[in-house]
Amino acid sequence: MRNLTPPWTMLRLSLLLLVLPVLVVVATTTTTTTTTTSSLSDDDFHNWLSVHSKSYSNNTSNLDEWKHRFSIFQENARLVQRHNDAFAKGETSFTMTIDGPFADLTDQEFTQLYLMDSQDCSATHRSSGKLHTASIDSTIDSGPYDIDWRTKGILTAVKNQGACGSCWTFSTTGCLEAHTCLAQNRDCTHWLGLAEQQLVDCAQDFNNHGCNGGLPSQAYEYIKYNGGIDLETSYLYVANKTDGTCKAKDFTIGAQVAGVYNITSRDEDDLMHAIATLGPVSIAYQVSPDFRLYQHGVYDSYNATTKKIMCKSDNHHVNHAVVAVGMGQTAKTKDLPVTPFYIVRNSWGTSWGMEGHFWMKRGENLCGVSDCASFPLVPKTKQKDGQDAAGGTSAETTTKIITTTHNAALLRGSSE
Ligand SMILES: *[C@@H]1O[C@H](CO)[C@@H](O)[C@H](O)[C@H]1NC(C)=O
Ligand SMILES: *[C@@H]1O[C@H](CO)[C@@H](O)[C@H](O)[C@H]1NC(C)=O
Ligand SMILES: *[C@@H]1O[C@H](CO)[C@@H](O)[C@H](O)[C@H]1NC(C)=O
Ligand SMILES: *[C@@H]1O[C@H](CO)[C@@H](O)[C@H](O)[C@H]1NC(C)=O
Ligand SMILES: *[C@@H]1O[C@H](CO)[C@@H](O)[C@H](O)[C@H]1NC(C)=O
Repeated sequence: MRNLTPPWTMLRLSLLLLVLPVLVVVATTTTTTTTTTSSLSDDDFHNWLSVHSKSYSNNTSNLDEWKHRFSIFQENARLVQRHNDAFAKGETSFTMTIDGPFADLTDQEFTQLYLMDSQDCSATHRSSGKLHTASIDSTIDSGPYDIDWRTKGILTAVKNQGACGSCWTFSTTGCLEAHTCLAQNRDCTHWLGLAEQQLVDCAQDFNNHGCNGGLPSQAYEYIKYNGGIDLETSYLYVANKTDGTCKAKDFTIGAQVAGVYNITSRDEDDLMHAIATLGPVSIAYQVSPDFRLYQHGVYDSYNATTKKIMCKSDNHHVNHAVVAVGMGQTAKTKDLPVTPFYIVRNSWGTSWGMEGHFWMKRGENLCGVSDCASFPLVPKTKQKDGQDAAGGTSAETTTKIITTTHNAALLRGSSE
């Protein structure tokens, strides 16, 4: 027996050595595709549900609901896998995941619960003269843009709109909070910000429709007319759990609007100049079915089955509003070219996308991203003096001075 052992072991070893490389290859190719694969178990779904604090009863009477949700979860996993395979081949610049908060919903359910009705932005005209005044063009070069307003202390924490098509109110507050903090030279990182619920309940006269949708530009008009908007803490957000009556309190105003600047429809240069020089901008666009499962990378609305762009780029199908808070471009890799993008703040909580943000492809009016963009002009606040440099870099100081003079110039133009 002892004599037989060494050759046998040797044989096994050499067999193993032959087989090993093959196994490694198989293992790597399968792990990239099995992490989100259709072989998801009951446990995977139970885990997902507990991570997202959701529950579907599996008591006998409701077992169907649990099974139904599980099958949607699996179907979404297949969609994700197909897309991520296309990403691995360099066909698209973003990845999808089922780890996000919407993997138990169909596209139709998601659209009904979280998106607003399609808004028509065809009325969006420039309100008050071109952005390209001499002073701006001479100081700001035309790119490549690399700016991230999240690093400037002017944005509040990412919020969550819940099941209500109120994205437009969050786009409004996110952008107005930022411009207010810029104008007041204030660190707003820990500020809770402004009251979306007031816009849901009170802004109907300006062609807004609560949980069914609205437009930031029209919300700014309301705030201007109303003399301000309440603080988040004095008018709590309850999504659609509202009786619809306006409960605004005039004595808890958190910000004011002096005017609205509509980006010229389809003028992405105008949009980029505004983000680069003045601050965040409210944008709106058309969300298509893949977007709820976005994970990271530059969103390009690529459909891995049809190999086509899914969203429409026209101003009649805008169903989601967000805030553009910066711009950048990807580094060149051997698989993908340099891709310019907007850094965008969403209102679906921090468990969605990249800590609640996404990158949107820039420069081709993708999904109508420049059809419906606007930002508020905030009242000029007292400046200590023209050279207020309170520790800021010279670039920040320049931006600030331009913001002040530019807002003032626009205000004069729009005061009719
Ligand atoms: C299942 O049903 C029982 C009795 O009706 C109830 O006490 C229990 O909470 C239910 N469990 C779930 C997960 O709904
Ligand atoms: C039903 O729920 C129990 C505990 O709540 C869980 O252990 C079991 O796996 C579930 N069954 C199915 C089919 O989901
Ligand atoms: C700005 O755009 C909105 C629609 O998005 C429109 O209602 C409003 O009239 C525009 N303002 C001006 C001054 O054109
Ligand atoms: C809020 O939305 C939920 C889910 O769509 C719906 O069932 C409920 O009726 C809505 N409530 C109001 C007050 O609109
Ligand atoms: C891509 O298009 C196909 C065919 O229209 C559709 O079945 C599929 O759901 C789409 N993919 C995504 C990710 O929405």
